[in-house]
Amino acid sequence: MKLLIYGALNIDLIYPVDHIVIPGETIKAAALEKSAGGKGANQAAAAANAGAEVFLAGRIGNDGGFLLSLLKPFGVNTEYVAAGKGSTGQALIQLDKNGQNAIVYYAGENGQITAEETETVIADFGKGDIISLQNELTQIPEMMKAAAKRGMVICCNPSPWDEKIRGYPLELVDIFIVNEIEGPALAELPQQTPAAKVLDALTKRFPGKEIILTAGSEGAYYGRDQAREKGNAVKVEVVDTTGAGDTFTGYYLAARLGNYSVPDALNIACKAASIAVSRKGALAAIPGKAEVF
Ligand code: RIB
Repeated sequence: MKLLIYGALNIDLIYPVDHIVIPGETIKAAALEKSAGGKGANQAAAAANAGAEVFLAGRIGNDGGFLLSLLKPFGVNTEYVAAGKGSTGQALIQLDKNGQNAIVYYAGENGQITAEETETVIADFGKGDIISLQNELTQIPEMMKAAAKRGMVICCNPSPWDEKIRGYPLELVDIFIVNEIEGPALAELPQQTPAAKVLDALTKRFPGKEIILTAGSEGAYYGRDQAREKGNAVKVEVVDTTGAGDTFTGYYLAARLGNYSVPDALNIACKAASIAVSRKGALAAIPGKAEVF
């Protein structure tokens, strides 16, 4: 079975700062680091490191060729990444001294995906293949419909969260991977709602579907109807949380494709994400297979 990640490739501009800037404030960054990211690229690299056969689809601009070169060593197939004339997606990332971030995202070419190119790419995949979608691209509803027609397993990571997601054909999704912000938002519950309650609400709302709620240092919770499982994070010193969720998703999907049980896949993905937060960067922080398995 193949894994298609249809998602963003971004140029990440990382500004290490004392604290996340507040409205009206100007602060100095200690450096400016340019690196590779984008939820699609990060997930694809993580899944490839975990041993899956991974295809990344998306768009870059005239300044994004280096992203493809950086993805090569991971073994990600990039034949479905188109190049446009605009600029590549960009993420302006403030990284504070506790490893927390705040991101301003500009879609660039990620916002130029057409329904036609979506159909063409997805036509090359079939029953049982997995498609992983995030929310940094245009045409997500069309991708869901095309993938469902082909009998693909649809994984949705509604990140970054935006209210339009409620209008997507979410009944077509098989696996939801949400964090502590996206979970309550999707469940229409207050942000501080405990994980168990969020899981109960989402499993009721999406019967038969797999719900995974990542919870940082607490690990990850899984629910499907009445079934519940939990994965444990590894204790690490947090350096940079950027891309940790993507590492989790890539490793989780690869582990499931590799026939690991849900609890094992959760623990594998939690360990990979824990290692990722102990390092700087997004793509650059993704651990190798030998470190995780
Ligand atoms: O999930 C992390 C990613 O989100 C970063 O690499 C950045 O590109 C933003 O899109």
